[in-house]
Amino acid sequence: MKPFYLTTAIDYVNGAPHLGHAYEKVLTDVIARFRRMMGDEVYFLTGVDEHGQKVQMAAQQLGIPPQQYVDETSAAFRALLPQLSISNDDFIRTTEPRHKAVVSRLLQQLYDKGEIYQAEYKGFYSTRQEQFLQEKDRQPDGTWPEIFGDVTEITESNYFFKLAGYQAWLVDFLTTHEDFIFPRYRQKQVLEFLKDPLNDLCISRPRERLEWGIPLPFDPNYVTYVWFDALVNYYSAVADTGQWPADLHVIGKDILVPPHAVYWPIMLHALGLPLPKSLLVHGWWSVNGVKMSKSTGNFIVPADYTGEFGVDALRYFLIREMNVGQDSDFTRAQFLVRYNSELANNLGNLINRTLNMTTRFGAGLIPAAGPAEDVEKELQALWDKTRTEVIPLCEGFQFHAALDRTFAFITATNAYIEKRAPWKLGKSTTEADQTLLRTALATMAEALRLGAALLQAVMPTTTEKINGVLGYTPGAIWRDELAWGSRLTGRKVAEALVLFPRPQPADKAPAKP
Ligand code: ME8
Ligand code: MG
Repeated sequence: MKPFYLTTAIDYVNGAPHLGHAYEKVLTDVIARFRRMMGDEVYFLTGVDEHGQKVQMAAQQLGIPPQQYVDETSAAFRALLPQLSISNDDFIRTTEPRHKAVVSRLLQQLYDKGEIYQAEYKGFYSTRQEQFLQEKDRQPDGTWPEIFGDVTEITESNYFFKLAGYQAWLVDFLTTHEDFIFPRYRQKQVLEFLKDPLNDLCISRPRERLEWGIPLPFDPNYVTYVWFDALVNYYSAVADTGQWPADLHVIGKDILVPPHAVYWPIMLHALGLPLPKSLLVHGWWSVNGVKMSKSTGNFIVPADYTGEFGVDALRYFLIREMNVGQDSDFTRAQFLVRYNSELANNLGNLINRTLNMTTRFGAGLIPAAGPAEDVEKELQALWDKTRTEVIPLCEGFQFHAALDRTFAFITATNAYIEKRAPWKLGKSTTEADQTLLRTALATMAEALRLGAALLQAVMPTTTEKINGVLGYTPGAIWRDELAWGSRLTGRKVAEALVLFPRPQPADKAPAKP
């Protein structure tokens, strides 16, 4: 088996998890499940980023120790995972000893190699972004952009990592590895960024300003800059297992440049460690056309949707709606449109009809199909086209398109049922009609089984339930399950399954913030 190690970003815990955090987990989970289905030996890491100024300040405001604060807040992030059916193999917290030990070790190695030096820093500092600013960060009128919050001028001695010396190497690496970042245009953005000279990276914060961090092993008066600490999680979680390098880091567009595309490759290269094989950069969700923000109350709590519609409905919507890499807008109205028309009506109908008609006209047993006529051949041809398209689409992260093709096949199956009208055939006693009826029942059940197999990575519970009501247990090799055949002949079906209940007219839906 081919190993496949993939990660999400690790979330800051100074707040509650929202839809953006949920999306990244679900997207990564869909990739993890798909790779497992393709036979890879997957290792899926996620976790939380618990150090830094923001946590220290939030804890101070509550008057509790930072460790207590992160213990409490990270529990909500951890609880999100089962709520979303996330199949992660590991969960890392940057306050864990296994992580801190590796960060210290790597810092010491870089220090011993002469890659870290001490120098006086004089300039402007943004506490909110935990970042030193440069003149070019100013707005044309001389003020600092809002995102930096309070900016103060400071003079202090700090430790610097020799980033600048690796700029030419990084440009060369990116130029010769065009597939390092998906989507590709993001890689071009990194090269644009690298047209300006890099500064060395300040990797320390003096203890008197920031306590809540990993102490520098060579100078206990300082703690480690939160990004230097956080990026190492991908390595520290697997340092002793031989999994490194990662095959894929899944991250949002805001943390590509500079952390993941500049700091991280250079840190690894300077340490003599292999680089991750690729980065997948997803876009951002807005809500009702506006950036998500806690202060304005414009955000979505994932549990509200999983609670009301089920986990697979939320997973489906997120993956169907977002073209990976682009931005997307979340509205309850659009959620309801897809829920009602695609899940409750289209898929729900196929399930209902299959179970209902097999129960009424086949005594609950899926019959053997008679000879395929043109309508069956057409549906089977569409199936062959669908499955051959869907796999490469998933390999290329085009999950929205894969779902679109899969649902087109489900639509076609419902249309097939209309054409065959088993409810009419069931009233006829001629031998020819009885054969057509058996063919129709077998065909719809088989099409449902196959459609469900294609939905497995996105809607794992749905797939399992559909197999369950068809009396079917799939074999171990997913791709072998995608062949149209007669595996269901003689299976006893359940009488009913309601997966996506009570379609709600969009206009009658209760308004939600
Ligand atoms: O950046 N839509 O943590 P974070 C989609 N701790 N994705 C979103 C989003 C939105 N509206 N809002 C946030 C951090 N995200 C660091 C990462 S990695 C070594 C350290 C994504 O909690 C965001 O792009 O601010 C990022 O990938 C992830 O959620 C965590 O964001
Ligand atoms: Mg953020």
